[in-house]
Amino acid sequence: MTNATWNLNEHTAESLWTLCGQTLEAAVQSARHPFHLLTVSTLTPAGTPDARTVVLRHFGEDPAEIAFHTDTRSAKYRQMKAQPAVHLHWYSADLRVQLRAAATAELHNGDGRAQAAWTNSRTTSRACYTSPIGPGTPVAEFPVAPTIPLDDDPSGLIHFAVVSCRLSLVEVLTLHASGHQRVRLSLTDIPVTWERLAP
Ligand SMILES: Cc1cc2nc3c(=O)[nH]c(=O)nc-3n(C[C@H](O)[C@H](O)[C@H](O)COP(=O)(O)O)c2cc1C
Repeated sequence: MTNATWNLNEHTAESLWTLCGQTLEAAVQSARHPFHLLTVSTLTPAGTPDARTVVLRHFGEDPAEIAFHTDTRSAKYRQMKAQPAVHLHWYSADLRVQLRAAATAELHNGDGRAQAAWTNSRTTSRACYTSPIGPGTPVAEFPVAPTIPLDDDPSGLIHFAVVSCRLSLVEVLTLHASGHQRVRLSLTDIPVTWERLAP
């Protein structure tokens, strides 16, 4: 895939959404993929924005969703529980492509989806959930890295959550020397529609 793959003049709304889906699917599979990490923005109770990096763990096409994993003790988890509207952001300097998405977060903890994701996760990924100190807790010293749990150790599961983000709007901006291109895909339309926007 190159920047030319993202020449929006060569796409329809449907083919672009298919490309977005294939790209995010590939990004789930490979830690080296430029879209493997994304920024998730939430709102604090004071109405101020908060943003952080997470790992893309899942892409689903119907309904359109992405998912990431987090700790129920984290600030973002509390924020999404109070206000499920989130905004997602990816940028690849190699592809010169930015994706932005408006989404609604659905929190899964202690249910079948959390259990299935826990079972499929690596013990190295599970380790942080076993820490007795929740993310963001003030500490006198930086804690040492938690011990990698055994495969059948469920102790971190209580803090483990899958956050499914249902996508409604996806904005694609692609940078080209001949002129930048920007569109907004409306995923709630069937079939998906787009609006061209000035970059
Ligand atoms: C490369 C990278 C990947 C990360 N992946 C995750 C992740 O998948 N889930 C997560 O909760 N935090 C992840 N973090 C940590 C968050 O960015 C953040 O610092 C932490 O979750 C606390 O955020 P909060 O206080 O806003 O909840 C990652 C950080 C980096 C730098």
